[in-house]
Amino acid sequence: MKVIVNTNENINGTLVLPLWQDSKNMATGSESGVHRSLKNQIDNILTEGDFKAKAGTSMTLAGTEGGKALLIGLGKEDDANLQSMRESGAKVTSSRGKIHGKTLTLKFNGVEHGHMAAFIEGMILRDYSYDNYKSKDEDAESNDEEITVHVTCEDGKTADLQTSADLSSAVATGVYLARDLGNAPPNDLYPMEFARQAIEFGSEHDNVEVKVINYDEARTMGMGGLVGVGMGSYRKPCMVIFEINGDKPGPSPCIVGKGITFDTGGISIKPSPSMDEMKYDMHGSATTFGVMKALVASGHKERVIGLTCMAENMPSSNAQRPGDVITTYSGKTVEVLNTDAEGRLVLSDGLWYAGKHLNPSYMIDLATLTGACVVALGHEASGLWSNDDELLNNIKTAGEHCGEIAWPMPLFKAFEKEMTDSKIADVRNLGAGRYGGSNTAAAFLKQFVPNMDGTEDQIPWAHLDIAGTAWGAKSNKLVKNGATGIHVRTLHHLITGL
Ligand code: BES
Ligand code: ZN
Ligand code: ZN
Repeated sequence: MKVIVNTNENINGTLVLPLWQDSKNMATGSESGVHRSLKNQIDNILTEGDFKAKAGTSMTLAGTEGGKALLIGLGKEDDANLQSMRESGAKVTSSRGKIHGKTLTLKFNGVEHGHMAAFIEGMILRDYSYDNYKSKDEDAESNDEEITVHVTCEDGKTADLQTSADLSSAVATGVYLARDLGNAPPNDLYPMEFARQAIEFGSEHDNVEVKVINYDEARTMGMGGLVGVGMGSYRKPCMVIFEINGDKPGPSPCIVGKGITFDTGGISIKPSPSMDEMKYDMHGSATTFGVMKALVASGHKERVIGLTCMAENMPSSNAQRPGDVITTYSGKTVEVLNTDAEGRLVLSDGLWYAGKHLNPSYMIDLATLTGACVVALGHEASGLWSNDDELLNNIKTAGEHCGEIAWPMPLFKAFEKEMTDSKIADVRNLGAGRYGGSNTAAAFLKQFVPNMDGTEDQIPWAHLDIAGTAWGAKSNKLVKNGATGIHVRTLHHLITGL
């Protein structure tokens, strides 16, 4: 989607008119350039109350000589916030059909900057569908042609609005990438293919370095978590490390992603229903890669690190077994009681490696880690755990700002105790019972956060369980279906302040 902000009065293509609930006429100033017969039609509809402009509603007008219009309900002006405006913007994209064409003119009058910017952001974010594997339908509207939106508003507001729209477009490239990776079928997106795409990304940008630790190297280095999970698959595991602006000084933010390109459960195999959804089990890595892309696209100048732990969790004669004891990269041993609790195993090596070698100011991991988190929070929020209150609050605030809620969850000592009372190893990968499963998983991860150099204090770390928010969130109006690209925007905002 191309967004051009100007004060031009001409209407190109279909007029898109956002309206506050119960408006009885067009906002003063927005009539300019609108053909008389279209204006009369709109006025009639509004005075008659035929379009009430409730949030989430739209109406298409066509058939007059005055051109076409798409009316968009913004809901009550007093209730408006950034997220309601994003959702109204998304409604433009989801309501746009062949009849409206690919050129739109969006007219704002008397709407504050932040609300206009959020509306445009919503339009952009909803303008995504995953068609890579669909044969082209000759009769259908061409999907290749980009939508162009001409936006008009008051003179003094155009420059800032164009800047915001450009930023939204830049960040959206990262969101789209995360969705592309999440939606990709697991036969085509496996650990080393993810690594290949990362290397390609690195070769396209002078300020991006990508390093891959392959299976043999991971074995030699003693990454027992990554190796244990990935060794049962013909498609071998790897770790991918992104460094942006590596010439700038650290310590720097570090994002760590769970990248299970398919999670069968391994020998503790999952039931068949919905197992296909386990292709999304790499969304933590997809978000990590997406954040890297968003930072580069928006011109971020500071050093940032990304690390993804890639593996396919398969049952085979070479797969790890329940009962195995593995030695992780940290040196701590783990009793593998359930091979389906694999995300925490690959992350244990990722967190330890990042903390020890990559000079992080803080580490944030993202993982589709537990079904228990979906039980706790549904699809409305990601779970958020942290060993540092300031980091936790910063992530929570950034999430709220972006409409990607991250909800605080507890790291009680009792959970850590539960995970460290294995009879034969340092840590167990399964809680003692099934209750509090997302908390025990977080408590497991905490065992693999190194201390800051020369101190007894851990590196500030936060864990986002995105099992409920990475896909299938029907209430997420900014996505049509499939992978959501969750938290690319939250983390971009957290890191850049933009
Ligand atoms: N990838 C799953 C978690 C998951 C399940 C995410 C459903 C989204 C939807 C993870 O690897 C897993 O299988 N976790 C187990 C942990 C259990 C064995 C302790 C789970 O949640 O059942
Ligand atoms: Zn699993
Ligand atoms: Zn998993």
